[in-house]
Amino acid sequence: MHTIVLATQKGGSGKTTLAIGLALAALQAGHNVRMIDTDRQGTLSRWQVRRGIAEPVVEIVRSADHIERRLHSFDRGGVSLTVIDTASGVGEATVAAIRACDLCMIPARPTVVDIEATAATLGVVRAWRKPFALVLNQTPVRGRRVNDSANALGDVISDLANVLALPFIAMRNDHQDALAAGLSVGEYAPSGKSADEIQSLWQWTRAKLDGVPAAALAACAHPSGGAPIQADAEATAAWKEAGLPWDACL
Ligand SMILES: Nc1ncnc2c1ncn2[C@@H]1O[C@H](COP(=O)(O)OP(=O)(O)OP(=O)(O)O)[C@@H](O)[C@H]1O
Ligand SMILES: [Mg+2]
Repeated sequence: MHTIVLATQKGGSGKTTLAIGLALAALQAGHNVRMIDTDRQGTLSRWQVRRGIAEPVVEIVRSADHIERRLHSFDRGGVSLTVIDTASGVGEATVAAIRACDLCMIPARPTVVDIEATAATLGVVRAWRKPFALVLNQTPVRGRRVNDSANALGDVISDLANVLALPFIAMRNDHQDALAAGLSVGEYAPSGKSADEIQSLWQWTRAKLDGVPAAALAACAHPSGGAPIQADAEATAAWKEAGLPWDACL
């Protein structure tokens, strides 16, 4: 079984939205998926109630001590992927989830302050030597076009190639409407661009979980019928500007 945790200090960065998107993409790909909600806010659990469909089962686990036990139990029961949604901040349950995971996905909006706010989570990830990925979420739609400007970013992109998930997830109402309807964006608007992006993000995530080397990861994120997605200059400029010591986290 693989375990993904969505975590970051900053509230509203898209942890729950991406947890749902990835879990449902995996479910549609044939995985046996469970979700864990460690956030007292209960956004994920309430989404499941609105959903009114049993799958994916969302288990509420508030205690840090119980997370690992539940994961063992899922594993024994034949679950192939568990997605854990956490509260903002770096509380005990979040640290326990990171300790137990195979991949920590850290969403951030493409602004300097949001990216700076990933540092606390990166500190935990680094302390436990866990693989991680940074997911740029709510990027401007006009900055989402595929282009070759990534080449101009030189060192920044090569440093981040293994940890900057692709594609970036653009800001679109479909995500908000799907959450409100108890659906994933892939169920809500299956032929929309948001569904396509989430599907591609799942491909990238699965490749990362499978240990695909950094140089080949970008080619794993394909929009339907399109070319591999590259990072675009506008969104990645925020990482550069934040000036964080990324190599210290690797
Ligand atoms: N790509 C996106 N486009 C448009 N809206 C988005 C996108 N991602 C998330 N949102 C919206 O932003 C809000 C916050 O998202 P979400 O609840 O997933 O963040 P979170 O990190 O889980 O927040 P919290 O820290 O409160 O748990 C929600 O209203 C959600 O619908
Ligand atoms: Mg949330």
